[in-house]
Amino acid sequence: MRLLKNKVIINSIKCPVCGQPFRTDERGSLLCLGKKTHCYDFSSSGYVNFSCPAQSGGGDSKGAVRARSLFLDSGAYLPVANAVCEMLDEFSPNGGLVIDAGCGEGYYSCLIANNGYSVCGADISKFAVDAAAKRATRGELEKAFFCTASVFELPLVNSCADAVVNIFAPCVEKEYSRVLKDEGVLVVAWAGEEHLMGLKSVIYDNTHINTARADLPQSMEKIFEKRVKYQIELTSNDQILNLFSMTPYYWRTSSEDREKLSGLNSLTTQIDIIISVYKNHTFEEIQ
Ligand SMILES: C[S@@+](CC[C@H](N)C(=O)[O-])C[C@H]1O[C@@H](n2cnc3c(N)ncnc32)[C@H](O)[C@@H]1O
Repeated sequence: MRLLKNKVIINSIKCPVCGQPFRTDERGSLLCLGKKTHCYDFSSSGYVNFSCPAQSGGGDSKGAVRARSLFLDSGAYLPVANAVCEMLDEFSPNGGLVIDAGCGEGYYSCLIANNGYSVCGADISKFAVDAAAKRATRGELEKAFFCTASVFELPLVNSCADAVVNIFAPCVEKEYSRVLKDEGVLVVAWAGEEHLMGLKSVIYDNTHINTARADLPQSMEKIFEKRVKYQIELTSNDQILNLFSMTPYYWRTSSEDREKLSGLNSLTTQIDIIISVYKNHTFEEIQ
């Protein structure tokens, strides 16, 4: 059982029902300080379920989470993870609290916690945060905390975070601005024009370049951008299917087109990821 001892994180989370701060009891449960005490237990793997019933059940499936874990553990996205960590070193160098918004199965969160930051990973998928908590336990990372929550309504107090990282997950500028300190930074990783072109060209007859995502911040000032571009060579059908299962194409592709991947044992594909860094302004400025 993982217990939450990290004061930076305990002081930053708030009760999703009444908004009051938490204390922990002797069993490690989180008890809010509101008039009606709301209690949240840790799961056996070590995450806390903060989702209200209406939010429960969304996000990545168990299969997608497993495919993502297997694929990321192969090291194929390590240059992306290293670039995100370099951005944090550069623009948020004093440790502090990083929120991984839409953290998935915790690959990036755990690398960031390993670099000395306190990390709160939030994802709407309970399968994802379950895997993330297990990853943190395997790495003996006491500075990483995971919860199910929507990135549209994070269970975090205003101005608690030194940085928010947002990697291939919904980017919610207003909410991230709210939880960031005034001098905090938002690091967003998103697909560049040629991302996964090799994979797409096997599946589709006509492949188009990716367009910039629509939810990138509009009000925060962009202070840095880096393009991480390289090729990966996949040498087994399992690797190819794992990559495919963690992409949005998995849900959009007909069974006929999916069939093109069966029996395919090697694939070279482009990785093309843009990492953009934004400086927060005071939350009031974008109310
Ligand atoms: C493409 S995955 C990326 C996961 C992780 N950041 C990574 O790159 O490995 C997108 C993640 O966003 C999560 N997600 C989708 N909508 C969400 C929401 N409204 N609130 C929180 N998480 C959400 C999904 O469950 C999924 O884990």
